[in-house]
Amino acid sequence: KKVLVLYGGKSKEREVSLRSGRAVADALSQKGFEVSVLDLNENSVASIVADRPDVAFIALHGKYGEDGTVQGLLDILEIPYVGSDVLTSAVCINKATTKKILAYEQLPTAPFVILNTERGPKIGLAEMADKVVKELGLPAVVKPATQGSSIGTTIVKKEEALIPALETALGYDGELVVERFIDGTEVTASVLGNEDAEVLPLIEIVAENEFYDYEAKYTPGMSHHIIPARISERARVRVEEIALKTYHAFKCRGFSRVDFIVDKNDNPFVLEINTIPGMTSLSLFPDAARAAGMSFEDLCARLVELALS
Ligand code: DAL
Ligand code: MG
Repeated sequence: KKVLVLYGGKSKEREVSLRSGRAVADALSQKGFEVSVLDLNENSVASIVADRPDVAFIALHGKYGEDGTVQGLLDILEIPYVGSDVLTSAVCINKATTKKILAYEQLPTAPFVILNTERGPKIGLAEMADKVVKELGLPAVVKPATQGSSIGTTIVKKEEALIPALETALGYDGELVVERFIDGTEVTASVLGNEDAEVLPLIEIVAENEFYDYEAKYTPGMSHHIIPARISERARVRVEEIALKTYHAFKCRGFSRVDFIVDKNDNPFVLEINTIPGMTSLSLFPDAARAAGMSFEDLCARLVELALS
């Protein structure tokens, strides 16, 4: 089969995508696929049409790739692809939309406030900060709605740090999600499959920084993956159950990583759904697969198989 690996792109997670794409392309070549790679840009449509792959592996993170845009293009070209469809991708890229659906589905997620500077009544920074303090209290986590890899995210403990955190996040997106900070263990559930999806071994994330920020995610030695996660049996069962429910509620396909915080009382809270989880050598999903006895090469091949089934 001819596989086209799409990578790079123009999101803030471009560097991560380059690493994911190279790793995936190498793995698929080793498995005997005929692999070509394409760094996605404005001129890529003609190349994709000319290449006519049997399947595309979208190793793009963030906007223009993880968000449904490339999925839409491939749908029009009738090229099957790894991962979720347009709707799921577009919904999951936005943490505000994700939280609203989680709430409807009664899936646990931390209390939150959505601040939108592009729609609705104009409110200033001071008013936003006021709303956060009144409705959520501190500590809180300020995030741009549509960034991955923790870009633009700040944990705010003191009131004077709130406005700078809002400004930072607004530098990336006009829409913000502010969540109540949940003190607990960060755990990620890697889900693999389509209708019959399964949860791979849970990974606990321990960061050297204050939290699992961009630097901690992609600098060797700055974070540690602990498998199996050091949470109680009760918490593990809950996380796995909620991860699968979330996967199906959002109609994910192929793979997705559902990130959680588990509090001191074994209550899991969904943070977000990554429809194209990182596939770099330091990434979580490949580690979870390895813990389940599946090599990185086998994982990539399985994802291609799932895209075609
Ligand atoms: N957003 C990054 C790539 C991840 O979820 O691993
Ligand atoms: Mg993410």
